[in-house]
Amino acid sequence: MRAQVAIIGAGPAGLLLGQLLYKAGIDAVILEQRSPDYVLGRIRAGVLEQGTVDVLDLAGVGDRLHANALPHDGFEIGANGRQHRIQLKELVGKVVTVYGQTEVTRDLMEARAACGAPSIYEAESVELHDITSACPSVTFVHNGEKRRLECDFMAGCDGYHGVSRRSIPADALSIFERVYPFGWLGVLADVPPAWDELIYADSDRGFALASMRSATRVRCYVQCSLTDKVEQWSDDRFWDEFKLRVGPEVAARMTTGPSIEKSIAPLRSFVAEPMRYGQLFLAGDAAHIVPPTGAKGLNLAASDVFYLYEALTGYYKGDSRAALDHYSGRALRRVWQAVRFSWWMTSLLHRFPGEDPFTSRVRVADLQYLFGSESAQRTLAENYVGLPL
Ligand code: APR
Ligand code: PHB
Repeated sequence: MRAQVAIIGAGPAGLLLGQLLYKAGIDAVILEQRSPDYVLGRIRAGVLEQGTVDVLDLAGVGDRLHANALPHDGFEIGANGRQHRIQLKELVGKVVTVYGQTEVTRDLMEARAACGAPSIYEAESVELHDITSACPSVTFVHNGEKRRLECDFMAGCDGYHGVSRRSIPADALSIFERVYPFGWLGVLADVPPAWDELIYADSDRGFALASMRSATRVRCYVQCSLTDKVEQWSDDRFWDEFKLRVGPEVAARMTTGPSIEKSIAPLRSFVAEPMRYGQLFLAGDAAHIVPPTGAKGLNLAASDVFYLYEALTGYYKGDSRAALDHYSGRALRRVWQAVRFSWWMTSLLHRFPGEDPFTSRVRVADLQYLFGSESAQRTLAENYVGLPL
């Protein structure tokens, strides 16, 4: 088997790259270790920057999004039960779009199936070979049979735990990492949200986030301990804790219901540099992880993919290899802006176990400054809606 580009991973990054390349007439095969249902079963964030919506439109998968997504002109930051609105539209003239990552993935999967471009699901034992040669290849086992995909380039879109980054020699990568001493416990429930916009709530009991997927489905989180297990959190315990953190005003308006999904995710910042080794280009979670507080994970995957698409189309149009050579530097500049922003928002809104009094005071001062200063709010808004691509 041969393709111009072998894409490893059919998460949002791999599927989006596949669709953009298909539109540009570049043939790509996607290799995914899981089944389509498994991929669609993962619940992730749901806030899209305008730049991400533009890239989805460019890929031709924006129709369902435009019909169903919720545009949000602002969001709220709660501090000890009181809400302060960050007026995104007034401050920076842009909005964000609330649309679940699961829906983005479904739209991309359907588009790929409709155009007949090849995806191989349940590809096991994926291995990358001759990465620095002019004829790299990927081997894998499918239906018990070992197969080889020859290619010009490989796109490592296989997430944090994938094989692509691990195929790069350790001495060719620099790793930057911060592990936060808490996680997020998330619940999905079919009840109408009691909030029109997302609420990021700071409280003495820890952080909580009130989000939504639609007019009838909420997604809510509470900061939890890394040693907590999902089984220790009954739905009742979760809602009681959530209400205490968002405060009585919101709690009084809320309807709660049984969870349809409940999971705990640890929080981490992680960057691997450079995002290229030989003919292999990393994109999305394969190269970097941000804590979910800034809602940047999916948006960064989309911007990486856009840059990689430009680099590959440039190469195949005959514009030399310069764009390929600039991919990593270009992507990393934007990645580090989002890493900084996500780290800042996480530090601002979470109580760190064993936090010293000086750090607590600085955090409170930071929040007070934000609530009192339009300049500070504009800086937050500019980053939240997404820096230009
Ligand atoms: N071989 C083939 N596929 C693999 C392998 C492997 N060895 N390892 C992992 N994969 C697949 C996973 O099963 C998954 O479907 O790669 C895909 C990676 O998808 P994601 O983890 O969703 O990563 P990405 O596409 O970069 O999306 C980034 O996901 O975690 C969020 O915050 C993040 O929203 C952001 C988005
Ligand atoms: C979500 O809806 O799942 C969500 C929204 C905003 C975030 C993180 C998660 O910052």
